[in-house]
Amino acid sequence: MSDFPRAAVIGNPISHSLSPKLHGYWLKRYGLDGSYTALEVSEDQLEETLSRLPKEGYVGANVTLPHKVNVLGFADQITDRATLIGAANTLTFKSDGRIYADNTDGYGFIANLRQGAPHWDPKAGPAAVFGAGGAARAVVVALIDAGVPEIIVSNRTRPKSEALRADFGARISVVDWVQADMMLEEARTVVNTTSLGMKGAADFKVSLDLLRKDAVVTDIVYNPLMTPFLAAAERRGCTIVDGLGMLLHQGVPGFERWFGQRPEVDEATRAAVLA
Ligand code: ATR
Repeated sequence: MSDFPRAAVIGNPISHSLSPKLHGYWLKRYGLDGSYTALEVSEDQLEETLSRLPKEGYVGANVTLPHKVNVLGFADQITDRATLIGAANTLTFKSDGRIYADNTDGYGFIANLRQGAPHWDPKAGPAAVFGAGGAARAVVVALIDAGVPEIIVSNRTRPKSEALRADFGARISVVDWVQADMMLEEARTVVNTTSLGMKGAADFKVSLDLLRKDAVVTDIVYNPLMTPFLAAAERRGCTIVDGLGMLLHQGVPGFERWFGQRPEVDEATRAAVLA
């Protein structure tokens, strides 16, 4: 058992995770005793790992692919937002041995938008969301919470958009992927939650001709930081917010719970993670 709090990110693969850099930077910046490492954990090893870590001095963990959904099966307490999203990314190991599961992705998404576009008004009009995968669920829950009046979702595989509507209700409407550009006519908040535009993935090819100049546009892809989608939105005069901030902000609640200090997300934090 270590005499300082330990935390980790668990996933598979895990070597590309930026979380160790982020939390390592914060630990150093605030002069805290603690550690944060990356643990490669396969699906077979998840249960054993979760029972072992608390005994080894771990106070919590971030959870990434492929465990974000399955981890709920091993939690003793699940926050409402993690239940709604159907996935957790932040675990806290309580001293009584209980596992508390939360999802801070939606929090990170909104905090990033508020920091990157301080004038952003969720109530100004509809939001358009490209994609309906795991990340989209967190984004949709967060947008509903923030008071967006209507959320239009378009996904290549339409039944996944329909599932979002079934789960989150009447504020969601669904548009076919072939007509995804039509969502932009009214949208004041525009989000890409697909992997399109990511380094090594296919291009984002939906036309932005209908995109309003007064829309705030964000992408959850952060490699590259300036995705072709964001670059095109910027050329149209939109305020753009890159996806790195979502990753940084989603780490804040866990770090605060585990190490007792609420960390800042600022230029120095971004620089440390990008270094
Ligand atoms: P995440 O949990 O990060 O959202 P995911 O659940 O695999 O990951 O979702 C990836 C998203 O990118 C989905 O919306 C996916 O669309 P499908 O549901 O149709 O698979 C979208 N996506 C990935 N590649 C795509 C492509 N070539 N064209 C359109 N959408 C794509």
